[in-house]
Amino acid sequence: MWDKLGPELDLEQGKKMIDDLAASGTIWLSFTGGEPMLRKELGAFIDYAADRGMETSVSTNGLHIEKRWQEIRRVGRVKISLDGPEEVHDRIRGKGSHRVALRAADTCREHGIPIKFSAVLAEHNLDQIDYLVDVSRQYETQVMFQPTTLNKLRDFEPNPVRPPIEGYRDAIDKLIALKQQGCREIANTIGGLRHIRHWPKNTGIECWAGLLSVSLEPDGTLTSCKRSPMEGKQRVFPANGFHDAFTQLKVPACEQCWDSGMIDLNHALSFNANTVLALLSRFYRRPARRVERVHMSLPASRP
Ligand SMILES: C[S@@+](CC[C@H](N)C(=O)[O-])C[C@H]1O[C@@H](n2cnc3c(N)ncnc32)[C@H](O)[C@@H]1O
Ligand code: SF4
Repeated sequence: MWDKLGPELDLEQGKKMIDDLAASGTIWLSFTGGEPMLRKELGAFIDYAADRGMETSVSTNGLHIEKRWQEIRRVGRVKISLDGPEEVHDRIRGKGSHRVALRAADTCREHGIPIKFSAVLAEHNLDQIDYLVDVSRQYETQVMFQPTTLNKLRDFEPNPVRPPIEGYRDAIDKLIALKQQGCREIANTIGGLRHIRHWPKNTGIECWAGLLSVSLEPDGTLTSCKRSPMEGKQRVFPANGFHDAFTQLKVPACEQCWDSGMIDLNHALSFNANTVLALLSRFYRRPARRVERVHMSLPASRP
């Protein structure tokens, strides 16, 4: 988790960036943060991207969704962070945050906005898999699991909530067993779960970040991947437009890939047969999904 304040693209600059992204063939734009719901222009960015044929998503802790859902009603999916039941979730995210997350889920469901839950496996929630699966079933959706980062997000300080390795592996084994029994509420593929079972041991993956996906900072700077160790070193400011900056990005030399979405994308683009089949079956149920993506970090705030 991090605090970061700095310059941000304004509405016109953001729209120009989205025009550039569209011209470069972007089909998938994910807004994350910080907390994107704190950005008052978020709805305008979503509409602008949707008008240019892009599929969008917003990763959020649920803040302001209850009041401002209309602004984001054209979003393709809202990914709501949920770490466990109230006591567990609030312990890490602050009192009242579990209620905010589930109210956001209720609001989206009421207004037909698709949701998915995201759960970060850390020391406090390894025993909460059943709860997270049950809540996802109740909302007729899925939950995507991933391990916490080794350091605090975008920081060099060790993450104090790293889970114990044995307990973590047991939790992943349970997820794999549930998937094998046909549990539809777990969004991870079995291949992706087998990969994150290696956490935190260096485990290479064929990486497509910087080639087919890119991460944008609030000021418009590009990096190949927000989770790469090179993230802080390799940044390109789009002085001559997005496409020029994009071509300057390098594929990161990265020995650890623990972002479940990126793992599935990397496996699929490397033609891992099981992952391709698993993802296709997801697309079959929801044909709007695509593979080329941009992560756009919005405001400076706590995630
Ligand atoms: C950085 S947050 C931004 C969106 C929003 N503020 C939130 O809390 O969900 C995006 C995703 O990263 C996850 N995340 C936050 N800190 C993390 C960490 N240290 N390791 C792994 N994932 C993390 C969140 O749970 C969420 O699913
Ligand atoms: S975290 Fe994964 S997607 Fe990102 S740079 Fe590393 S290997 Fe590539």
